[in-house]
Amino acid sequence: MLELTSVDIKKAPVAVAIIPVCSDKLIHEDPTIVALLKKAKSADNFKGEKDEVITFFNPENTKFKKVLFIGLGEHKDVNAEGLRVMAGKAVSEAIKAKNNEIIFAVPDTIKMKMEPVTVIEVMMEGAFLGNHLFDQYKKEKKNTPLKKISFNVTPDLRKKYAGLTSKTETICQGTLLAREWVSTPSNDKTPVRFAAMIKKQMLKAKIKTTVFTEKQLIRKKMGALLSVAAGSKNSPRMVVMEYNHPKAKKKVVLVGKGVTFDSGGLNLKVGGSIDGMKMDMAGAAAVAGTMAVISKLSPKVNVIGITPLVENMPSGEATRPGDIVKTYDGKTVEINNTDAEGRLILVDAMSYANKTYKPDIMIDLATLTGACVVALGEKIAGVFSNNDTLSEKIVAAGNKTHERCWRMPLPDDYKELMKSDFADISNLSSSRWGGAITAALFLKAFVGDTGWAHIDIAGPAYALKRTPYCGAGGTGFGVRMLCNLLETI
Ligand code: BES
Ligand code: ZN
Ligand code: ZN
Repeated sequence: MLELTSVDIKKAPVAVAIIPVCSDKLIHEDPTIVALLKKAKSADNFKGEKDEVITFFNPENTKFKKVLFIGLGEHKDVNAEGLRVMAGKAVSEAIKAKNNEIIFAVPDTIKMKMEPVTVIEVMMEGAFLGNHLFDQYKKEKKNTPLKKISFNVTPDLRKKYAGLTSKTETICQGTLLAREWVSTPSNDKTPVRFAAMIKKQMLKAKIKTTVFTEKQLIRKKMGALLSVAAGSKNSPRMVVMEYNHPKAKKKVVLVGKGVTFDSGGLNLKVGGSIDGMKMDMAGAAAVAGTMAVISKLSPKVNVIGITPLVENMPSGEATRPGDIVKTYDGKTVEINNTDAEGRLILVDAMSYANKTYKPDIMIDLATLTGACVVALGEKIAGVFSNNDTLSEKIVAAGNKTHERCWRMPLPDDYKELMKSDFADISNLSSSRWGGAITAALFLKAFVGDTGWAHIDIAGPAYALKRTPYCGAGGTGFGVRMLCNLLETI
C-alpha cells in the first residue's frame, strides 16, 4: 500500500500529487514543483500558511490531473507531528475526492533540517493511519480507502530506506487493530468474543496464546477479577500471549485493562458518564495490537502480553459495595465502589504475571480513571512508575510517536487514603481528590520490587470527533509508543 518511489515528478504516472510547502522557505528542489509553486504564489496569492490548500487541475508539463499544495506554515515551526497531520489531511481529501492513488512529493530533507528517516516515516504514518475507515457497521460504504500511497524521494534515500515502508505499515497495522477493537460495540465484543478475536490475530502472527476460561480463573483463585465479572451473564476470560527472541536479555510483561463494557456495576454510572464505556478495554486492545505485530518487528526482548477481560454489569449476582474479596496474591480488598473495577482485574493479572514470569519490567495500560482526564485532558496519558529510567523511556517513546505521556507522582503518604477498616486495602480512596494517583497506588501495592509503570490512557484512548489521521472512535493510543519502547528497553 505504501511505496517509496524516485521518479521525475513531471512523468509520474499518478493522477494526484500532494506537495507540502512552507510559507517562508523553499523546501523542494525539483524545477517542475518550483515553477508551479511560483505560479501559485503570484497568481493565486497562495502563501503556504498552515492548513492553506491550493489545487491545480491538469498543470502544464506534467501528467497530473490534480496537484494539491498544502501549507505547513513557517519553517521553524514544522515538526514531525505537523508532517503526520499534513499527510493525514491530504489522504482524507483524496478519499473524499474518490481518488485511488496519490503521490507525495517528499520535501528535501536537508532543506527541512530534519532526519530523512523521520520525514519519510512520519509522513507514511499520517497517510497510512489517515487512510483507515471503520465502516463495518454501515450497510452503504460511502468512501473507499486509497489503494496506493507513494512517496517520491531521491534514489539514494529510496535505497537507504527500502525497509521503512513495511516496518511503518506493520506498526500502524497494530494501531488499526486496536482502533477497530475499541470502536466495536460491546454487544459484539463480550469477553469470550474479544478473546477469540485476539486469539485469531495471534494465530496469524505466530504468537503462542493461552485463553483462560472462567473455570480456570476460579481454580487460580483470581477473586478480584471474578468479583467484577460476577454481575454479567458474559463470562470472563484472560488471554496470555508470549513472544520470545533468542537474543533477549530482558523479560517485559504488558498488561492491558479489558473491561468490554463498564456500566459501573451496582454503583451504576449516572448522567452521561456511561456513554462511550465500550472503550474501557482500550488498554487490552493496545497490548494485543502490539503483540499482533511484534514478531514482524522482532525486538531483542521477551514480551508477555496479558489481557484480563470482563464485563462490569449490575444484577442480582453482582458484587455489592462493602463486599470483601480475596485477590490472586492473597490480599483482601474491600470493594467500596464497584465502578473502581479496573484496578481489581489488573492486580490479579499483574500478580499472576509476577509469580509466573518474574519479569524485569511490567507495564500496564488502562483506561483507569476519570481523574486522569481531569488532570491531563483528552490527549495526554499519565505515567506512574517506581522506576525513573523506565518512565523516562516511556515519555521519550511517546514523544517520538506523538502519543504523549506525562509522568505523575506516586506519593507514599497518600497510601493511607486506600486503607480499609476491615480488609487489607480498599478499592476506593477516602478522599475525593487525586483519584488517578490513588488508583495507581492501589496497583503499586501488588507489584512488589518489579520495575513497573502504569499508563492511564482514559483520556487519549477514544476520540469523539475525527482528528487529522484518526477517525472518530478508538485511537489505538499506545501501540506505536510500545513498539518504539520495546526497541530501546
Ligand atoms: N472506566 C472508568 C474510567 C474512565 C472514565 C475511563 C472516563 C474513560 C473515561 C473507571 O472504571 C472508573 O469508573 N473509574 C472511576 C473510579 C472511582 C469510582 C474511584 C472514576 O474515575 O470515576
Ligand atoms: Zn468503572
Ligand atoms: Zn472502567
